[in-house]
Amino acid sequence: MKDKSGHSWAEPYKIKMVELLRMTTREEREAAIREAGYNTFLLRSRDVYIDLLTDSGTSAMSDRQWAGLMMGDEAYAGSENYYNLEAAVQEYYGYKYLVPTHQGRGAEHLMSQIMIREGDYIPGNMYFTTTRLHQELAGGCFVDVIVDEAHDPGSDHPFKGNVDLAKLEKLVQEVGADHIPYISLEGCVNMAGGQPFSMANLKELNAYCKKHGIPIMLDATRTIENAWFIRRREEGYAEKSIREILREICDLTDGCTMSAKKDLLVNIGGFFACNDEELFLKAQNMVVVYEGLHTYGGLAGRDMEAMAQGLREAVMQEHQDARIGQVRYLGVHLRKAGVPIVRPIGSHAIFLDAKTFLPHLDQDQFPAQTLAAELYLEAGIRSMERGNVSAGRDPETGKNRKPALELVRLTLPRRVYTQAHMDVVVEAVAGVYERRETIQGLKMVYEPEYLRFFQARFEPLQ
Ligand code: F0G
Repeated sequence: MKDKSGHSWAEPYKIKMVELLRMTTREEREAAIREAGYNTFLLRSRDVYIDLLTDSGTSAMSDRQWAGLMMGDEAYAGSENYYNLEAAVQEYYGYKYLVPTHQGRGAEHLMSQIMIREGDYIPGNMYFTTTRLHQELAGGCFVDVIVDEAHDPGSDHPFKGNVDLAKLEKLVQEVGADHIPYISLEGCVNMAGGQPFSMANLKELNAYCKKHGIPIMLDATRTIENAWFIRRREEGYAEKSIREILREICDLTDGCTMSAKKDLLVNIGGFFACNDEELFLKAQNMVVVYEGLHTYGGLAGRDMEAMAQGLREAVMQEHQDARIGQVRYLGVHLRKAGVPIVRPIGSHAIFLDAKTFLPHLDQDQFPAQTLAAELYLEAGIRSMERGNVSAGRDPETGKNRKPALELVRLTLPRRVYTQAHMDVVVEAVAGVYERRETIQGLKMVYEPEYLRFFQARFEPLQ
């Protein structure tokens, strides 16, 4: 696959250790998915050949990160690794204060509890499942202010992660800036297909929020990948480094929550960071209740060391070229096979458009959940539903939210699979696409109260 300058990208590393995979038969997969209630979250990973469930915590660490594990300072208080991580976060993201957490939702929990008051509204560029739930549990109400194009899988808008300032202004007019504790801004918006926001949009947002006294809190989970897209697509950024762009983004915001399990190439970890001392002290106090002392936040010292090193590797241009290049490779070949996917190709995953893939299924027959199960049956590939099941029920009406986007996510772990694995995935998806008309939907037979997609169970309709 060639880049803009006509050169092929390749991985900036070689393989030192491999993990053996188990191949399964169709009969074994039929039994496994039935036992899993047709929910790929409930499969055992030993029954999976190519695991594209998530890019979260599934990346391969480098030799230097593994070496960092050996440097773990497992002191309850004041671990050296905490100070190393703090220095790296200050250097690359630029935020003054750091509170480590066990993963992203730990940070979301802290931030929601300390910033949101009952009856508040939290605008955001599309929801993320755990983010919105923590906002709701804190008494807030999420309001989607992403541009309309983000809800249209066919739109080729280069920055579908942008905030629609008119939507934000409408909310401010309706509820007043006093009832908006912050705006939640996500890089490479996961639920929209890994779509970036532009720097121009962030600058406008920053000016607007300053005027109204609304802080911008970044969901920094995939913001280094967002910086790659700004460099590639936005005028005036081609000569800037990912590192510089990342810093520019953070300087336009007031703080962040982070799931380090994505951009930062670790298997576990996260943090809350900010510039405001008062907010920091509140988060630091809250973390000891729920996560652990403020110098480890539920992590081992070694985890923080691996995270600091992962951050240094994540901002490398050649790393992101290969990372996002592999996602592109998969997407381009699926498109060539005629498979409907979300456009343009995003950062961390290819999203199959299940509504177009299975147009004969009603959204309450869960087309994306069905397609994910079929893909597993076809070739042992595990993907994730991101549609009607993930969106959950509207708390007011109790009805399924039926989101515009009904997607199956093929998420690529970083530095894990080869191009040959990608070819197998393309063949499998194309195989399911060929027999799409014979595919029946699912009905939900068990539905847990929170984040139902993780544990819900289904049965085939007929
Ligand atoms: N924010 C975003 C944008 C995420 O994608 C995730 C996790 C979180 C927050 C929560 O972080 O898992 O460390 O608690 N996304 C994973 C995924 C689960 O598969 O997309 P966490």
